[in-house]
Amino acid sequence: MTGYTFRVGFLLYNICCMNLWTSICKLGFASCKRNPGATEGINVLIEKKNLDDKWAYGFSCIEYTEFEKFGISVDPYSPGSLQAQFPANTNILYVDLASAELIGSSTDERSLPGMVLNIKKSITYMDQFGIKHWLKAAGRLSPEAVWNVQCKISLIISPTDILLDVIKVLKVWSYTPDGALLDMMRNAYDLLSRCGVTIPEVEDNEMYVNCGPPYLILLHPALGPLWEIISQKFVGGSIAKGSELQIEVAEFLWRNVQLDGSLVVLAENIVGSTKTNEIGEALLQYGRRCARCKLENVKVLNDGINWNSGDNSYWKHDMQRFEALKVILHGNAEFEARDVVIQGNYTFDVPDGHKLEITPGVSGLDIQLKPIEAELMDSGTWFWNYKTRGRHIELELIEI
Ligand SMILES: *[C@@H]1O[C@H](CO)[C@@H](O)[C@H](O)[C@H]1NC(C)=O
Repeated sequence: MTGYTFRVGFLLYNICCMNLWTSICKLGFASCKRNPGATEGINVLIEKKNLDDKWAYGFSCIEYTEFEKFGISVDPYSPGSLQAQFPANTNILYVDLASAELIGSSTDERSLPGMVLNIKKSITYMDQFGIKHWLKAAGRLSPEAVWNVQCKISLIISPTDILLDVIKVLKVWSYTPDGALLDMMRNAYDLLSRCGVTIPEVEDNEMYVNCGPPYLILLHPALGPLWEIISQKFVGGSIAKGSELQIEVAEFLWRNVQLDGSLVVLAENIVGSTKTNEIGEALLQYGRRCARCKLENVKVLNDGINWNSGDNSYWKHDMQRFEALKVILHGNAEFEARDVVIQGNYTFDVPDGHKLEITPGVSGLDIQLKPIEAELMDSGTWFWNYKTRGRHIELELIEI
């Protein structure tokens, strides 16, 4: 948002009230008086000169305020200080749902307010079959566009006691990194328990403060992102309390996996691979040479995270482990384990162009590393075929 003049908006208290909100505002931020020293963002009035030399005004919010840098000195403990006059953003949004539904239900670029999406520019891209498309009209959402959205819709309201109570509750927990981590774990619980994975529930926040999270589960969004899709990639099994599951690969199958310990799958080519074009640009080609991982009827047992280490920082995903099963997939590498118990500390580093298969051996595990056949290098040895059925997406696993 640099380049715009900010006329800071404590006067907004006076110019916008609830009546105005209901008549003209479609969406807005709630704000309240700033407590001395509060770190919340601010809601501002932006003044901007348009190309036609006319001035336009709109509300917006600025997060990560740098009051000191801009000479707005703080005396955090004095309620009358300059900083105290800036309204604090509460991160509570007001939405006129009827208007949002009307706009959201249009099926083209009109679903974005006018001037937001400029599709005059042309771009070149490569589709999932590697076919290059030259000079297609495309658009980009610029900060200016976002500004336009916000000018139409911002609002400020006066603080009320109710609002302040809500803020107090929210501030205590949700805005902290730990709160965000715990929200993610609750989401993981909701998602995986829908998939038939037996998993302990996340207890209350106090439990977290005293004992840390019940488990760490980090799933790459490209596994879905729709839960409907993810829940066809994860079927059954269990995750014991104190486990860690990190899946950084989109082409993935979990069928009846029992995890007690740490399982970490990392890939270089999570969603595709890059190809360099004639002018030396690296273009990401989705779906091409993706890494793959398939786990069926597998028990993963190891000592996992050292939950008693004082140096663990769970939200940074920085903690000590005793043991783990780590799978590292280079390039289009594939990993498959079937009908086995993998117990103890293992790192499987699978080189580009290879598939590592683990099956029951005569004594212990039968571990085989094989090169992927030349004609399967781009497509992989299996893939998910997506079909739409009504409003649903159905995945079918195709082995080549
Ligand atoms: C487990 O493996 C990792 C790396 O492969 C190693 O650093 C660690 O010391 C091992 N832990 C045990 C208990 O052997």
